[in-house]
Amino acid sequence: MQSATPAVTFDSLGLSPDILQALKQAGFVQPTPIQAQAIPVAMAGHDVIGCAATGTGKTAAFALPMLEKLSLKTGPRALVLAPTRELALQITEQVMRFGATRGVQCATLIGGVGMGGQVRALRNNSPVIVATPGRLLDHMDQGTARLDGIAWLVLDEADRMLDMGFKPQLDRILAKVPKQRQTMLFSATLGGDVEKFARGQLKQPVKVEVARSGTVAMRVEQKAYMAAQTEKTALLQALLSEDDNSTLVFTRTKRRADKVTAQLERAGLKVARIHADRSQAQRAAALEGFRQGRFRVLVATDIAARGIDVAEIGHVVNYDLPHVPEDYVHRVGRTARASASGRASSLVAPEEQGLLKDIERFTRAPLARGLVPRESPIFQAAMKKSAAKEPGSQGGHHGKHGGGGRPHHQKQGGAGDHKPHRHGDSDGGRPQRHGATGGGTPGRHSAPSSQDRRYAGGKPSHKGKPQGHGGGGTAFKGGPKRRR
Ligand SMILES: Nc1ncnc2c1ncn2[C@@H]1O[C@H](COP(=O)(O)OP(=O)(O)OP(=O)(O)O)[C@@H](O)[C@H]1O
Ligand SMILES: [Mg+2]
Repeated sequence: MQSATPAVTFDSLGLSPDILQALKQAGFVQPTPIQAQAIPVAMAGHDVIGCAATGTGKTAAFALPMLEKLSLKTGPRALVLAPTRELALQITEQVMRFGATRGVQCATLIGGVGMGGQVRALRNNSPVIVATPGRLLDHMDQGTARLDGIAWLVLDEADRMLDMGFKPQLDRILAKVPKQRQTMLFSATLGGDVEKFARGQLKQPVKVEVARSGTVAMRVEQKAYMAAQTEKTALLQALLSEDDNSTLVFTRTKRRADKVTAQLERAGLKVARIHADRSQAQRAAALEGFRQGRFRVLVATDIAARGIDVAEIGHVVNYDLPHVPEDYVHRVGRTARASASGRASSLVAPEEQGLLKDIERFTRAPLARGLVPRESPIFQAAMKKSAAKEPGSQGGHHGKHGGGGRPHHQKQGGAGDHKPHRHGDSDGGRPQRHGATGGGTPGRHSAPSSQDRRYAGGKPSHKGKPQGHGGGGTAFKGGPKRRR
């Protein structure tokens, strides 16, 4: 897949010299397949639906032609919508990087921070708006953002933007965006209502499909570990002791993220956490500290599942399986980005086996089973500690009230990370499609589940066998072959 277009160079894509210069400075030597295929189509004026695996450069695939087409004199011309604050900030960074030579400014409209700076950026007539839907609507309601000059619309993570969690907000935004525009939709998973939306809102779109929707990133070594809920923390600690990788751990709820963070901290690890109940300052500090290596582990809800680009992540752990298989593809895609490789471990409790089957069906590949290292001293020590803390907790209670099972279907405003604000500044987590079991009530913490209370941390000695994950660079030149 990655080597599909070896002969294409950035020079041949019709980009301006100053953009080519910016690409050179960024160390982009050769376009990735999605860039090689989508950029000329977009430059020719077509609407584009782009599908390519995680970490393969979709951002530049929409940002470069968008920058080429901007006219700097007439206020907001391009609107990029993304599902989370962190992703919006990251997109802004890329747009600024490639647009630096022509002084392109972005207004980044995200929740959790003051409106003032955003209003000033809008008043300065920044030609690009990058936004999460909730905050953009706030500005539209206040009259501080006008969209009548928008000629370019990008939905990054398009399937997520079109699911129930965002659709009402998106409809209100689209009502104010001129019909006469170029539209681009991008994601590694393009199911759901994307086709329907494209039929109604796009003009004869060209589908650029480098990888089939749901294709897991190359060079991710995936394993599923069948374990009891009560073994998950000990197993996580044992897995963490196997290497020194920066590790991103996904839990199903905010509360479980807090719990796992505390357990790992007690075990002596440097851990940060990110979820929708944290302040924006805390979220930013956690991600930045993780990026810079101050924290080895970042524990997250699905808030961090999409788009986030941290080159150093070598291991993704699904402490709980995601509710929808699309999220599996995005979660494990936080590792093995660009030409790097990485590992993804999924901890599967008995009640999560249905979810595992859904994932295997969606990704069209069986997940290799890993051996739970029950003999490992770290695993045993952690289990012993948890047993001492909560006597009677080792009975392998896998009842349906356990942490990781299939969710109850809930109506809008269900539990989980989604906060149903007026505009649902839902740069939190899951759409309402699947509410989470055992999570907090909207905007509040509920009491921990009995399952949660049974966890306890151990104290492993992290010897850290380094397990380099190949290359690590972003040159997209002949990385190791796909493993599976
Ligand atoms: N042509 C290129 N040469 C070198 N590096 C690149 C190139 N294109 C993108 N990259 C780098 O690859 C990484 C992944 O890119 P990006 O975040 O755009 O991926 P993506 O396809 O949007 O992934 P996701 O589906 O997870 O959002 C980034 O660090 C980016 O800077
Ligand atoms: Mg992306």
